[in-house]
Amino acid sequence: MKALVLAGGKGTRLRPLTHTSAKQLVPVANKPVLNYGLEAIRDAGITSVGMVVGDTGSEIMRAVGDGSEFGLDVTYIPQEAPLGLAHCVLIAAEFLADEPFVMYLGDNLLVGGISSLVESFRHRPCDAQILLTRVADPRLFGVAELGPEGEIVGVQEKPLVPRSDLAIVGVYSFSPAIHQAVRAVRPSARGELEITDAIQWLIDTGRSVRSHVVTGYWKDTGRVQDLLECNRIVLELVEQDIRGTVDGLTEITGRVSVEPGAVVENSVLRGPIVVGADTKILSSYVGPFTSIGPECVIQDAEIEDSIVLGGSSVHGVSRVAHSLIGRNVEVSRAVGTPNIHQLVVGDHSKIQVRA
Ligand code: TTP
Repeated sequence: MKALVLAGGKGTRLRPLTHTSAKQLVPVANKPVLNYGLEAIRDAGITSVGMVVGDTGSEIMRAVGDGSEFGLDVTYIPQEAPLGLAHCVLIAAEFLADEPFVMYLGDNLLVGGISSLVESFRHRPCDAQILLTRVADPRLFGVAELGPEGEIVGVQEKPLVPRSDLAIVGVYSFSPAIHQAVRAVRPSARGELEITDAIQWLIDTGRSVRSHVVTGYWKDTGRVQDLLECNRIVLELVEQDIRGTVDGLTEITGRVSVEPGAVVENSVLRGPIVVGADTKILSSYVGPFTSIGPECVIQDAEIEDSIVLGGSSVHGVSRVAHSLIGRNVEVSRAVGTPNIHQLVVGDHSKIQVRA
């Protein structure tokens, strides 16, 4: 069995971060989202991975290499433009050949891995096995409609009037029959070859399509609030691990991971938190569910429930919360001008300040 990991796409919902970086490499608890997927694939006993990449391909290749660091053998499949999930299967046909495979959306996070679903597909092979989870607003997802026996009657992509609240999770298992399906479907109204249309084609032509409702946590990290939620969920699992230097004036409660080379002085850390390598936290408060990347400086500041990427600083500001701060960003207090906000912000950024 092989895996097809989709790591191209536009990432419009995560701008401005995705102007300069692949969305699959945005860190959750200081580890790129993509790594969680690759580890889950390896843990399920799959080693041969095709990775679909787009404009950010070189960055993904730098991060993943030949896959050996993950115990995987990765083949890159360039996609000329983000033409849809079914288009990814179409261009991967040669790599996949006539083997069954798991298709994993590189920006999805499934806590608990994929071993059990891969196992169930291996034991009871079918043409498509999809995972479903109940969501509050199914209009944002591919949605499945089940019949009285739990069988799949139909699937729709981002429907205006959903027939159920069962969203399709971004991990699918397919037999080689999917190749015929992706060749048969035509681009949707939004100009993409939709995997839901290919699955519908399998249903309509009498192929076996099965579903499981997932009970574990699943998230598509397409939006900022989803990333922050993933960060909270993954940080719940963090272990106490202090490998940096923490002085005697610092108070730590809860589980905190401080990576080597990090320095914490005269601060309050309330876990769960991760602090990246070579970061400095000085005279500050870092509250629960915060991931501070490597080589950051948090000084005379308060921050909680946030993700800060590498090389950034937060200086003299309180309190930053529910925020996603990109790489090499400076957040500081405007000196000598008490009632202004002074901003130098990139395109498509979102800033919320107290009125
Ligand atoms: P999406 O999140 O559906 O699409 P997107 O990346 O274009 O994001 P946005 O809606 O914010 O603009 O994609 C799911 C995953 O599949 C993601 O990891 C990107 C990847 N993908 C491809 O590799 N090729 C494609 O043609 C598409 C549509 C997505």
